[in-house]
Amino acid sequence: MGLRKDFLWGGATAANQLEGGYAEDGRGLANVDVIPIGEDRGPIRNGDRKHLDFDDEHFYPAKEGIDHYHRYKEDIALFGEMGFKTYRLSIAWSRIFPKGDEEEPNEAGLKFYEDLFQECHKHGIEPLVTITHFDCPIHLIKEYGGWRNRKTIDFYENLTRTLFTRYKGLVKYWLTFNEINVILHAPFMGAGLVFEEGENKKQVIYQAAHHELLASALATKIAHEVDPDIQVGCMLAAGKYYPETPNPRDVLAAQQADRRNYFFIDVQSRGEYPAYALKELEREGIEIPFEEGDKELLKEHTVDFISFSYYSNRVASGDPESKDQAEGNVIRSVKNPYLKASEWGWQIDPLGLRITMNDIYDRYQKPLFIVENGLGAVDHPDENGYVEDDYRIDYLASHIEAMKDAVELDGVDLMGYTTWGCIDLVSAGTGEMKKRYGFIYVDRDNYGNGTLDRTPKKSFDWYKKVIETNGKDL
Ligand code: BG6
Repeated sequence: MGLRKDFLWGGATAANQLEGGYAEDGRGLANVDVIPIGEDRGPIRNGDRKHLDFDDEHFYPAKEGIDHYHRYKEDIALFGEMGFKTYRLSIAWSRIFPKGDEEEPNEAGLKFYEDLFQECHKHGIEPLVTITHFDCPIHLIKEYGGWRNRKTIDFYENLTRTLFTRYKGLVKYWLTFNEINVILHAPFMGAGLVFEEGENKKQVIYQAAHHELLASALATKIAHEVDPDIQVGCMLAAGKYYPETPNPRDVLAAQQADRRNYFFIDVQSRGEYPAYALKELEREGIEIPFEEGDKELLKEHTVDFISFSYYSNRVASGDPESKDQAEGNVIRSVKNPYLKASEWGWQIDPLGLRITMNDIYDRYQKPLFIVENGLGAVDHPDENGYVEDDYRIDYLASHIEAMKDAVELDGVDLMGYTTWGCIDLVSAGTGEMKKRYGFIYVDRDNYGNGTLDRTPKKSFDWYKKVIETNGKDL
């Protein structure tokens, strides 16, 4: 037994990290546009500093991205050349509804994605579409407070109904919210939240999360009504917590840390708030604004599959003394002394992927989809722009090996695998271009200099061969 015959190999991107064209064809501004590169990025992304417009002091990498908006045909042709079966991308909400609360969509925005999906199909590529990848129209934040406001569910409902109807037959796989648990760690990016001084952040976050969870269930309901063939997935920033030692105190800390992330998927996949969360929120005086019909909506419209990103597992300690911390995609962890780390301090743990896959599959018993995995590294192109990225190949090969073990040795049901940033794009964490994940080099630096030319790297041919052999030749 190997991987499925129809295994969905491919790559993943997000609108705000590659499209650019931020003001074209009627597109409105979004939170992700106004998050600059540099040291102010953190507090803005976390909602601790209100920053809802551009200024002259900062550089905003999302404005031009890698200009995929104008070059998507060239990019998709390269994905086709690698043999991609799927391409995961996200819709920019503010292209479809520039302010977010209009009744009628922006036709130019709809047309852009329609053309893009058709282009994918021309190359035999099935689009896998994230509806919300960290973006929220600025107008919804200024006017309504983003996801803290229940009205945002109605706007999202309008968005999703529009998408499912318009792209019926063109898109089969949808994800409702990228890394939904990131709302805990970067709430402005995750849910358009900006905090008032002195307010109870946890209350605001869980209230907004409740709205996102309802919106996700509603979208699932609508998708299945519009087309029973559509499959809807949730999306988790995954990575299991290891206890720092066998001390039961550390084991409990790891279990609790896991639950903080699984909470969202527990609701989206099992259809109800788990007991441990209800108890914790009650203990802390956090009120979830349940209204009539909410429980039924969540229960009746659970997701079809579980997708997740995986970069590394994490470590938890029950010791309140501060520990040596490792970096990660907004979720930090105690450093694992057994693992090496990337140039950005993200620890590298291929076996952890097998462990995480088993953990998630044991918990939900639904098909899994790995929709992000990869190594952010500095590349050094030669005079022809060619990059020999053996470090990237090694990283991916070891993770694919572990993924295959989870399938072949443990029986995990896996739909597909898309590497993160299949073409170099802007980093969500740091805003840098020099943190590259791609099989395709893009000539652009952190501050927007470069020709934007695309050049396949060594890993391009390697991945092509991996796909051709359905993961046998690594
Ligand atoms: C995930 C996000 O957290 O990690 C992506 O879904 C992001 O948007 C990716 O780009 C890698 O993180 P970074 O910070 O290296 O871009």
